[in-house]
Amino acid sequence: MRVAATQQLPGPAWDELPDLEMLETWPPSEPLPGVEVLIVANVEVGAQELGLLRELRLVANFGVGYDAVDVAACRERGIAVTNTPGVLDAAVADLTLALILACRRHLVVSDRFVRDRRWRRGWARPELLGHDLTGSRLGLVGMGRIGREVARRAEAFGMEVAHHRRSDGLPLDELLRKSDVVSLHVPLTPETRGLITRERLALLRDGATLVNTARGAIVDEEALVNELVSGRISAGLDVFADEPQVPEGLLDLSNVVLTPHIASATAETRAAMTRVLVDNVLAFARGEPLPNLVQV
Ligand code: DGY
Repeated sequence: MRVAATQQLPGPAWDELPDLEMLETWPPSEPLPGVEVLIVANVEVGAQELGLLRELRLVANFGVGYDAVDVAACRERGIAVTNTPGVLDAAVADLTLALILACRRHLVVSDRFVRDRRWRRGWARPELLGHDLTGSRLGLVGMGRIGREVARRAEAFGMEVAHHRRSDGLPLDELLRKSDVVSLHVPLTPETRGLITRERLALLRDGATLVNTARGAIVDEEALVNELVSGRISAGLDVFADEPQVPEGLLDLSNVVLTPHIASATAETRAAMTRVLVDNVLAFARGEPLPNLVQV
């Protein structure tokens, strides 16, 4: 079985993969005959790429979100797609709380304040006054495994948590209007692409914080940049619509905390994700049912 990967993944499970071939470029510059299993991490796998992999039977996606993989095109060609759910919820929830705290308590700005040697006397700087998490309202858009982990942590900080999802919770617009902090925890699908429109961003309260550890394209990014440039709201952003591009207009703003898609990036979680991915590849090699087959 020929297995190709777009990058090496961390953790001991990686060494269990047989005859692995590391691809130097993605998309590949020429056809890859005989490759049956493709291991990918956050790269596009669409019709063009699939056209170069005529024998492909499995795309093993490193991550729970598989929006970069054209699952419908894979299905048409009889290619299975797997992902790595269930092992990264805590790490993503931790980073979500870190971004909430960083924004609400001006952590990055305060750090820069010290490093720039602007801290002279006293500690009552009005521009560094943040907001209590205790008693503030957190609105979760999406209440799956990650959303629930965020809720648990936020409640421990004394936040009042409400949520919106298709089956229950507050209507989305009401949640946006009522929350001090809004955090996104839905996958990127045709239904959620652009879900947070310009009009919906305008519903956020003055001084509210938007946190996105899900996918950049869930938000109208241009409208978000405009809101942030105006200074009306703040944001903690781990994901962007066209990664690794980050809108230029965000780079100098003090009301935005930016991280490079690191929500699941802990040694323990990444090793666990590799374990799940490798288990799927090994099950495929043995002709067994795939533990994390993506169903569309
Ligand atoms: C995922 O698993 O989809 C995450 O975005 C990785 O950090």
